[in-house]
Amino acid sequence: MAFTVHPLHPHFVARFEGLDMRVPPDAATMRAVVEAADRYAVLVFPGQHINDEQHVAFSRPFGRLETTIKAYRPGFKGRLDPHVADISNLDENNGVLSATDRRRMSSLGNRLWHTDYTFKETPGLYSLLSARVIPEDGGETQFADMRAAYDALPARMKQRLDGLTAEHSLLYSRGTIGFVDFSEEEKARLGSAPQPLVRVHPGTGRKNLYLASHAMMIHGMEIPEGRILLKELMDHATRPEFVYTHRWTAGDLVLWDNRRTMHRACEYDPTKVRELHRTTVMEPTPPMAELRRSAA
Ligand code: OGA
Ligand code: MN
Repeated sequence: MAFTVHPLHPHFVARFEGLDMRVPPDAATMRAVVEAADRYAVLVFPGQHINDEQHVAFSRPFGRLETTIKAYRPGFKGRLDPHVADISNLDENNGVLSATDRRRMSSLGNRLWHTDYTFKETPGLYSLLSARVIPEDGGETQFADMRAAYDALPARMKQRLDGLTAEHSLLYSRGTIGFVDFSEEEKARLGSAPQPLVRVHPGTGRKNLYLASHAMMIHGMEIPEGRILLKELMDHATRPEFVYTHRWTAGDLVLWDNRRTMHRACEYDPTKVRELHRTTVMEPTPPMAELRRSAA
């Protein structure tokens, strides 16, 4: 099959055409997707009107799929397969969540710049987000290129960051917006995880920043010192020249490489329906293992 890959931004992001996600990828298709993802980090696949079963079947060959964290809450009645994260403002009866619903409050955390599942030792590699219903205005998703951001750092800062690690926690990032409604069981289960602050991308050998709103402290630094550094790096990495804004059309599927991007959701009218479904392919090994290998 002939694929066309068309860049959409000076640093990253491409539109990928000529692929049908209703069928699982063969080896050549997987190679083409991985190569394009290594090069562009964010791939937009237009016109993919898939159901959850096709979404899961297309994603699975890329690695282990995560089960949505919401599925662990006692009494959880999801609308979708547990391998499909429900990125919508709908309840189990497909009604729009009330403005104060706990689920809506928690998902407001997606409006902070983040990388998927960095609060787990083995975080997200590819996220595949499929747009089903999109409001007329707003509700875009923004992506930030953490490689271009790293390249643009002064040499002194690159040296300073070398070998540093940050602790990532979902409880922390939700706490920064005042969302603290977690049970003791959730607090214990969600915990936190250390991650390198700079990573070498295995597909390209290039370095990039590895940040997320979940990063709460830097190991070996006083808390304020680490947080100020994290805030300055977040501000730097999300400067407009490193950011691409995706305006969704229903049927778009966007795949991103979490190892070298951040993303966030944009505001929209909460009385309007916005429905996207996501699968997440997890990394095969903890990023901390890379750091230990490069130090050895
Ligand atoms: C996600 C996410 C952003 C959005 O699905 O991981 O952060 O725009 N989504 O809904
Ligand atoms: Mn996300």
